[in-house]
Amino acid sequence: MRALVLAGGSGTRLRPFSYSMPKQLIPIANTPVLEYVVRNILDLGVTEIGIIVGDRVNEIQQALGDGSRFGARLTYIRQEAPLGLAHTVSIARDFLGDDDFVMYLGDNMLPDGIADIAEEFAVGRSAAHVVVCKVADPRAFGVAELGPGGEVLRLVEKPQQPRSDLALIGVYFFTAAIHEAIAAIRPSGRGELEITDAIQWLVSAGADVRASRYEGYWKDTGKVGDVLACNERILDGLRSSMDGEVDDVSVLVGPVVVEEGARIVRSRIKGPAIIGAGTLVKDSHIGPHTSVGRGCAVIGSRLEHSIVLDGASVTGVQGLHSSVVGRSASVGITSQSADRYRLVVGDHTQVEVAA
Ligand code: DAU
Repeated sequence: MRALVLAGGSGTRLRPFSYSMPKQLIPIANTPVLEYVVRNILDLGVTEIGIIVGDRVNEIQQALGDGSRFGARLTYIRQEAPLGLAHTVSIARDFLGDDDFVMYLGDNMLPDGIADIAEEFAVGRSAAHVVVCKVADPRAFGVAELGPGGEVLRLVEKPQQPRSDLALIGVYFFTAAIHEAIAAIRPSGRGELEITDAIQWLVSAGADVRASRYEGYWKDTGKVGDVLACNERILDGLRSSMDGEVDDVSVLVGPVVVEEGARIVRSRIKGPAIIGAGTLVKDSHIGPHTSVGRGCAVIGSRLEHSIVLDGASVTGVQGLHSSVVGRSASVGITSQSADRYRLVVGDHTQVEVAA
């Protein structure tokens, strides 16, 4: 079996972060989403992994390399434009050959792994095996209608009037039968070759298409709120480790990771929380549920339920909550009069201040 990881696309819902980085590299507990994806695939014993990349090929290659550090063999496959999930399979045809494969969306987090589903696919070996999860609002997803035995009756991509509450999640298992289906479909109204349409083509052609309900935790990290929620969930499983320096008056409570070269001075860290390598935390309160990236400075501040990306600084700000601070961004207090805010806010940025 091979794997195809989709790390192209445009990431418009994750602006402003996706202006400067591929959304699949957004850190969850200081590790890029894409790294969790690759590790879940390796847990299946699959080491031949194709990675679909768009314009941001360089950053993704820099983050994952050739895969040898994970024990994987990565093949990068360039997609010139985000023409759809099924389009990525067609451009990976040479890499996939006639092997069975798992297609994994590079922005989907499934920390409980996908081994059970892989097992179900291996036993049943249906033409396509999808994974579904009950959601409150299915309109943002592919939606499946299932028969009593888990057979797929109908699939529709982002329907306005969903006929079930079962969303397709970002893991699909295929035999080589999917290639004929993809060759037969046409782009959807939004101009993309939809994998949902290709699977529906198989259903209509009478092929065996099955679904598993996913019982574990799943999050599509395509939006900022989902990134924060997922960060909390992953931090909940954190185990303490100490590779930095903590002075005598600082207090660490609960699971806290202090990475190499980080310094905690006159501060309180309430876990679960991670302080990234080389970061300085001084006169501050951090956590719970907060990850601070590498090379940051948090001084005289209080932040919780938040993510601070590499190189950022937060100075003199009390009460940052549910916030994401981008790479090398700075949040601080103004030297102008006390009743003013001074903002240099990038495109599609969101700022909320106390009324
Ligand atoms: O997260 C689950 C949902 O993912 C499913 O319920 C939908 O049926 C499926 O179409 C997909 O919907 P999204 O709108 O969330 O897909 P998105 O555009 O975010 O793309 C998913 C991943 O695939 C993401 O890592 C970007 C990558 N991608 C996307 C396109 C359209 C590519 O690599 N190339 C592409 O052409």
